[in-house]
Amino acid sequence: MNESQQRAWDALALGPRWVSREQPPRSEPDRREQILTLDWPALRERVASCQACALAGGRTQTVFGVGAQDASWMVIGEAPGAEEDACGEPFVGKAGKLLDNMLASIGLSREKNVFIANVLKCRPPNNRDPQATEVACCQAFLMRQIELVKPGIILVMGRFAAQTLLKTEASIASLRGRVHGYALGEMTVPVVVTYHPAYLLRTPADKVKSWSDLCLARALAAQAD
Ligand code: URA
Repeated sequence: MNESQQRAWDALALGPRWVSREQPPRSEPDRREQILTLDWPALRERVASCQACALAGGRTQTVFGVGAQDASWMVIGEAPGAEEDACGEPFVGKAGKLLDNMLASIGLSREKNVFIANVLKCRPPNNRDPQATEVACCQAFLMRQIELVKPGIILVMGRFAAQTLLKTEASIASLRGRVHGYALGEMTVPVVVTYHPAYLLRTPADKVKSWSDLCLARALAAQAD
């Protein structure tokens, strides 16, 4: 792992608390190093066959991510839900439709200029919060996705994804409304945190705050162009 990958890893890491079901067991650093060298097809294959944590046993399929591989925007959510687990694509339920509408309101779409990924690639049972070991097992996948996309802006949806990506326990209220950074090589990719669309469905009054987050992200993306 080079120096910039190490910085990004440190920024993303909750610590390599490795729980392996793979035979023979590999050390987490070796596994991570290997994942960080993969190209798109190999990464997709590696995610699809992952048995690194117990979530593998309960999934219908992995949910790799969707969108343009050279997208200028990256959207990061938490984990697949039941509908995503069934169809293999992130954000396809009601929350996904809201996300698509939010993106469309600033001229974006998952078909053209956004790559959407989750912190976890497998569905946690009963929509429970992801656990630290699950995040640790999955984090190299997300990190490699960010490296391969090289986005100009990252929009993080919801408390869990924001806390994981930014390695903080701060509340979403304190994280949104300002610009964070994700180290990528010599670059720092601007990161904007906003509410998760599922939360916005329950709390529509906060859509106005989310709109201002989108406007902030759009202004930053325009600067990066
Ligand atoms: N919520 C997420 O965070 N990601 C999905 O893919 C679906 C719902």
